[in-house]
Amino acid sequence: EASTRIRLCSTSDVDWDSAIRVEEGDLILAVFNVNGVFYVTDDLCTHGPGSLSEGYLDGHTIECDFHNGAFDIRTGEVVTPPCMIPIKTYKVVIENENVTIEV
Ligand code: FES
Repeated sequence: EASTRIRLCSTSDVDWDSAIRVEEGDLILAVFNVNGVFYVTDDLCTHGPGSLSEGYLDGHTIECDFHNGAFDIRTGEVVTPPCMIPIKTYKVVIENENVTIEV
């Protein structure tokens, strides 16, 4: 099964312990930097219209600013309701200071 590498941003584009929103083709993604380690999830909360890149990041937990549901950005698992459906996560590869994902 072939996988494609997609460049999302530079590592320097995402401040320490924060997130940015990146649109790439059909994908709308949140790119997180937790202590220099990068994680990528879908940006749209699985519960509604919340944008996770605008949420509150606490360690590896992103809290949606819409109804305060939360996910673990490492696995996508729900941490706090009302979210019920995990958020999709992507495999991140750092390549020459670029944040890329494999899809
Ligand atoms: Fe994110 Fe409801 S839209 S918790």
